[in-house]
Amino acid sequence: MSALFVHNARYLGEIVHVLVRDGSVAAFGPGGSGGDGPADAERVDAAGLVLFPSFIDAHVHLREPGFEWKEDVASGLAAAAHGGFGTVMCMANTDPVNDRASVTEQILAAGRRAFPHGPRVRPIGAATTGLKGVELAPMHELAEAGCVAISNDGLPVADTEIFRRVMEYAADLDLIVIDHCEDPCLARKAQMNEGRVSGLLGLKGQPDVGETIQAARSVLLAEYLNLPVHIAHVSSARTADLIAWSKARGARVTAETCPHYLTLDETEVMGYNTNAKVNPPLRTPADVAALRAAVKSGVIDMLATDHAPHAPHEKETPFDEAPNGFTGLDLAVSVTYGLTREGVLTESDLVRLWCFAPGERFKLPVNRFQTGDPADFFLFDPDLEWQVTAETLFSKSRNTPWFGRTLRGRVTAHWLGGIRVA
Ligand code: DOR
Repeated sequence: MSALFVHNARYLGEIVHVLVRDGSVAAFGPGGSGGDGPADAERVDAAGLVLFPSFIDAHVHLREPGFEWKEDVASGLAAAAHGGFGTVMCMANTDPVNDRASVTEQILAAGRRAFPHGPRVRPIGAATTGLKGVELAPMHELAEAGCVAISNDGLPVADTEIFRRVMEYAADLDLIVIDHCEDPCLARKAQMNEGRVSGLLGLKGQPDVGETIQAARSVLLAEYLNLPVHIAHVSSARTADLIAWSKARGARVTAETCPHYLTLDETEVMGYNTNAKVNPPLRTPADVAALRAAVKSGVIDMLATDHAPHAPHEKETPFDEAPNGFTGLDLAVSVTYGLTREGVLTESDLVRLWCFAPGERFKLPVNRFQTGDPADFFLFDPDLEWQVTAETLFSKSRNTPWFGRTLRGRVTAHWLGGIRVA
């Protein structure tokens, strides 16, 4: 494999060069210290571009098997490659559910076939068979087949005894349980956040306290059992406060939130915009502000997209018939880079939230630009403006509130193990 020399890139404010040999970082240093690079290396002049280690998305839905009209592993990984993600962890709500080795193996094989050099797909196994919340899934089999975490995904386990057993068995296998926190009774038939806007629109709302109530069960169990739990897509200030409280007590809790909860609020739903329908729902401006503070301080450990593609015909329906979810892998880096311009986060925060934290929590390899690290990185043009259209998205779906809008900043090149994948 030939060498690669990327120079004049900006990494965390410094101009740097990276030399790649045999798929790994061979040298990394300031500006001109690498000279012109070795004669045998392909040279890439990255002047004006920002360098990032490939990001990890700990929460995506790739829809294969069973819902390939929304997305399949190949199209989801294409969106990941072009969106700056080197590893994605996919949820188990496929058909059949990923509650057995054969489904895990099918997903892994589809990933290798479509993108042999990555992005890598890392499946999350179901906590209970069929996600029904009744019987534990064969977690040992799922772990052996390659699942890297366990979750009941969007169907929280109502029975606390069963959830406790899920946590215990998963811990024995060294797998983290990811909990989608929603009180199923308070969320029944809900269409959006409960509040002023749901009142105006006459839509049944889901109170944010339903998320916090369910999260309280998880963090208290984590403390009581001294076992880890990871809270998925935190959407409210109240849940962020709960997580801060439980971490202060020493519970082994981590949490994620998503780009949309840091940038959009419930008013997006005005006009009955089904592209703004997601679960948990977009909340209030006060929630957005609290979540921004929580990712900055580390109360919320990481970002994840909750990439949830749905086909246009599924979203072009009356509001209460539309499924929840946003396509996200193509857009997430552009959207969250915008937070650096607003002074909310720094580029270093983005690396922590999108790469180091999920890598540590889920024991996935990351590139810290140390000699020998995997040569997984991307270049990002912070000023490139692009319109979100069916043509610019690599996902099969276009269900995002940003559809039709112009975003500033885009991934322009991505290498995994030194091989260019986008
Ligand atoms: O908005 C969502 N969409 N939330 C979930 O929990 C599930 C997801 C999906 O699979 O579409």
